[in-house]
Amino acid sequence: MPLRLDTYRLLGRSGLRVSPLALGTATFGTEWGWGAERDEARKLFDLYVERGGNFIDTAVTYTNGSSERLLGEFARDNRESLVLATKYTTLRRPGDPNSGGPHRKSLFASVEASLRQLNTDYIDLLYLHVWDSTTPVEEILRGMDDLVRQGKVLYVAISNGPAWQVARMQATADLRGWSPLVALQIEYNLIERTGERELIPMAREMGLGVVPWSPLAGGALTGKYSRDDLTAPDGAFGDGTRRSLNLAQGALTERNFAIVDVVREVAAELGRTPAQVGLAWTLQNPGVTAPVIGARTPAQLEDNLGALEVDFTASQLARLDGASAVELGFPQDLLTRETTRQPTRGDLRIEARR
Ligand SMILES: NC(=O)c1ccc[n+]([C@@H]2O[C@H](COP(=O)([O-])OP(=O)(O)OC[C@H]3O[C@@H](n4cnc5c(N)ncnc54)[C@H](OP(=O)(O)O)[C@@H]3O)[C@@H](O)[C@H]2O)c1
Repeated sequence: MPLRLDTYRLLGRSGLRVSPLALGTATFGTEWGWGAERDEARKLFDLYVERGGNFIDTAVTYTNGSSERLLGEFARDNRESLVLATKYTTLRRPGDPNSGGPHRKSLFASVEASLRQLNTDYIDLLYLHVWDSTTPVEEILRGMDDLVRQGKVLYVAISNGPAWQVARMQATADLRGWSPLVALQIEYNLIERTGERELIPMAREMGLGVVPWSPLAGGALTGKYSRDDLTAPDGAFGDGTRRSLNLAQGALTERNFAIVDVVREVAAELGRTPAQVGLAWTLQNPGVTAPVIGARTPAQLEDNLGALEVDFTASQLARLDGASAVELGFPQDLLTRETTRQPTRGDLRIEARR
């Protein structure tokens, strides 16, 4: 059954209803060199909301604050209907050791900055943006819970942290009666699947909805790059475009082009675009609640929203999986090997029915 932006899903173990594709706003503003000007960003916002989209993703430092400011301006008329998600930890001032990071002082300062930039008096979903190993988990969770009790934040979540720390945080929150983490935002796409080793199974077990970022690997999965891009002309790195960023971040490699070849083949069979196939693949993972789509133009956004209608055959899914699979490593490979395989919950249900 095709999905729509208003086929809302529950986010993790919360009662919060969110669209199956979130709108990423790192492209709102041109300060990072590859975004959209105000009027174009407004069109992206309007298109998404008109189709029933309610889940919008930003961060306190995206495009040096322009993303939150533009979002606050665009959301003014329907603030109550939107789920605005932002993130803290990256608001750093040179020379100030207490700016940035997950600790309590940074948390409270960042939330105040986001509230001002978003021109709102509450944040629906607050993520810890980037984990570091300096702050005790109790300090983070208690700070987040205080903000929830103050009404400045409604739900809390985490992005970019080790699975074992997130699991430990969730167990601590449960035992202390603090606000649980309801979402896990991670890089997850056909090129970056290592989240399947620990992060995604952990999230399913612990009640966090997975919200993949860069679901198109920065655009690599749209098929718009070719092997010629591997030999970048002098000066291409650091020229500020998304292409140079993708090259610098290793999204354009021979392995990745081989994956994109299969994405293209499947797209041609379905009469869809590679971008739609890439996004739809991420969306079909049962642990995933809503990929955060990135678009710079309304045409790209329109294209990406078409992913909601894609339905794969089993053989297409197997080919996409085969081209992109990563080794799960120990202990998962031992636990799934025929000789050492242990019963899964699915097996036990079958036995119980017999
Ligand atoms: N939690 C985190 O640490 C984290 C990290 C990164 C991102 N995020 C969130 O995730 C969102 C999405 O990330 P992302 O921008 O990396 O996503 P992405 O979908 O992997 O890449 C988006 C880029 O691909 C290109 N593109 C998108 N759709 C296209 C289409 N249909 N056809 C051709 N090109 C297309 C555009 O770049 P060009 O047109 O410029 O080539 C666009 O800026 C961000 O806005 C942000 O909200 C979170």
